[in-house]
Amino acid sequence: MLIRRLLPSDFVNVSALDAAAGILSPWTPTQYAREYMKHDTTFCWVAEVEGRLVGSLTFWDVVGEGEIANVAVHPDFWRQGIGRRLVQAALTQAAELGQKRVMLEVRQSNLAAQALYFSFGFMEDGRRPKYYVNGEDAILMSIRVDPNFS
Ligand SMILES: CC(C)(COP(=O)(O)OP(=O)(O)OC[C@H]1O[C@@H](n2cnc3c(N)ncnc32)[C@H](O)[C@@H]1OP(=O)(O)O)[C@@H](O)C(=O)NCCC(=O)NCCS
Repeated sequence: MLIRRLLPSDFVNVSALDAAAGILSPWTPTQYAREYMKHDTTFCWVAEVEGRLVGSLTFWDVVGEGEIANVAVHPDFWRQGIGRRLVQAALTQAAELGQKRVMLEVRQSNLAAQALYFSFGFMEDGRRPKYYVNGEDAILMSIRVDPNFS
């Protein structure tokens, strides 16, 4: 499995992958193209297995703090350590940027993603009621960045 930066040639496939993974409002290829242009503040990685795009993660630098905006793995490849590798890439980037904290939001019913984040040491900070389009609450999570994370 290869983790690499998103390329313009991935925009269509990464959008389809996010939808296949069950992301509630997946970004369109155009939205990915816009994110891609924000070189200083947006970092996108994809995971590739035998040339197939199977995972994605978008990470933002928001005024010195990190935010994981999106992470998705194709269902055919769940529980193979791909999500973990993608989150590792984001936390390594956070350490390189000198960020102190990385935050994210996750649906309250999304126990798989929460388990992934807890396994890194993310903690729940609070909730946003009815945050998602389907009426679900968002759980807000964060982690203090280990400056030596790699
Ligand atoms: C959440 C998601 C990204 C996890 O990706 P993944 O590649 O399957 O995760 P990994 O194999 O790297 O799992 C790492 C750890 O996370 C936890 N985990 C992952 N999926 C889990 C599940 N279904 N149930 C319980 N724990 C889970 C486990 O601790 C796992 O370690 P282990 O396999 O050694 O027990 C994937 O399920 C997904 O794409 N879901 C749909 C999209 C989504 O919900 N994105 C998150 C939005 S906030």
